[in-house]
Amino acid sequence: MKKIVKNGTIVTASDTYQADLAIVDGKIAMIGTDLNEEGAEVVDADGCYVFPGGVDPHTHFEMPFGGTVSKDDFETGTIAAAYGGTTTVIDFCLSSKGEPLKNAIQTWHDKSKDKAVIDYGFHLMIGEITDDVLNELPMVIEEEGITSFKVFMAYKNVLQADDETLFRTLITAKELGALVMVHAENGDVIDYLVKKALAEGNTDPIYHALTRPPEAEGEATGRAAQLTGLANSQLYVVHVSCAEAVEKISEARNKGYDVWGETCPQYLVLDQTALEKPDFEGAKYVWSPPLRDKSNQEVLWKALKNGQLQTLGSDQCSFDFKGQKELGKGDFTKIPNGGPMVEDRVSILFSEGVKNGRITLNQFVEIMATRTAKLFGVFPQKGTIAVGSDADIVIFDPTIERIISVDTHHMAVDYNAFEGMKVTGEPVTVLSRGEFVIKDKRFVGNPGSGQYLKRRKYNEQ
Ligand code: URP
Ligand code: ZN
Ligand code: ZN
Ligand code: ZN
Repeated sequence: MKKIVKNGTIVTASDTYQADLAIVDGKIAMIGTDLNEEGAEVVDADGCYVFPGGVDPHTHFEMPFGGTVSKDDFETGTIAAAYGGTTTVIDFCLSSKGEPLKNAIQTWHDKSKDKAVIDYGFHLMIGEITDDVLNELPMVIEEEGITSFKVFMAYKNVLQADDETLFRTLITAKELGALVMVHAENGDVIDYLVKKALAEGNTDPIYHALTRPPEAEGEATGRAAQLTGLANSQLYVVHVSCAEAVEKISEARNKGYDVWGETCPQYLVLDQTALEKPDFEGAKYVWSPPLRDKSNQEVLWKALKNGQLQTLGSDQCSFDFKGQKELGKGDFTKIPNGGPMVEDRVSILFSEGVKNGRITLNQFVEIMATRTAKLFGVFPQKGTIAVGSDADIVIFDPTIERIISVDTHHMAVDYNAFEGMKVTGEPVTVLSRGEFVIKDKRFVGNPGSGQYLKRRKYNEQ
């Protein structure tokens, strides 16, 4: 059936204009003024912005970590994402050494099947480069459409890969047409600092931050960038949290290296003092890299503004405070790392970014959707409003003021990291391929309606 979104202000990464848009068979079929058609369902966007649905390149739904599993799965996680104005997520498929990649990917298909309410893709973690892995990677790209590989430079003895693995992944990715993503922190140095802290009896949540200093992130970011230059490859640094890392990305880009950087809402608005909250509440804010000194926030905002950083991922990896975060009482190393961010990513970027004058409206769309869709091979199907694109649409009322709270969020966890924060602007209606997922702030979608996205190779049009 046909829908016409009327009277809104369409915003893309390049333009802002008043127009209606017609949706036929899940695609944007026409953009123009005063569109009318007998029998079409009219969706009124008067007084609202019409944004392309957000593309979140960084989620961990139902991910095993530290003896537990992240609480939001592909159902609750994508429902929360949709409430927040996100219509595409790319989740990290973990793999184990020695396990066929095909099995790892099947595990992620099993987790997501019949659950997602918006479209989704996978990145694949590479923990080692062996002949078996090299033999399987062409299949991963051609058959699965997974065109981004993730390498962890931290989490020693768990997820961490060595430099040879990173370097060979960069070389292989260049040959095959994939983008290499890194979690850039020096895991060996952190491991030493952690052991030292525990030996000295320092077990509180704040030591999670104190044992993962910004220099360890800057060093790993610089190393990954240099190896990318050496391999003549392409790199995307996830969850950049500090000035030290921004500097290294900027340096690499100035040399002409193909290096990109993502930050997350939590680093833009929260700081390290949250980990000092009493009664173990600091554990709610334990993730990696950790929250930093407040002075880093303006560095990150400026980097988004001037293009040194280009995207915003949520790094959604949610654990309940009760029963999950509490596993680390008396030992901060046992606090599962991660937080619930998928729902508030877009709102925080709009409110703190656009409303506070730090970025333009068009930059906001570029950061929350367009650039990500381009880097990860789903543009222009996703990430923009254009004839022929999927009708993934967010009708966003920029005047609504609300307070972020666990009492009103839709994630499955028992706290919200942004509790009490006042934001302006809210998605009121969200469509995925032309179907309502959120209608007038109520979920009306269907688990299983989200489709798996096979993505194009890096830089392939
Ligand atoms: O603490 C975090 N960020 N947990 C999720 C896994 C990762 O490192 O991205
Ligand atoms: Zn329909
Ligand atoms: Zn990470
Ligand atoms: Zn992550």
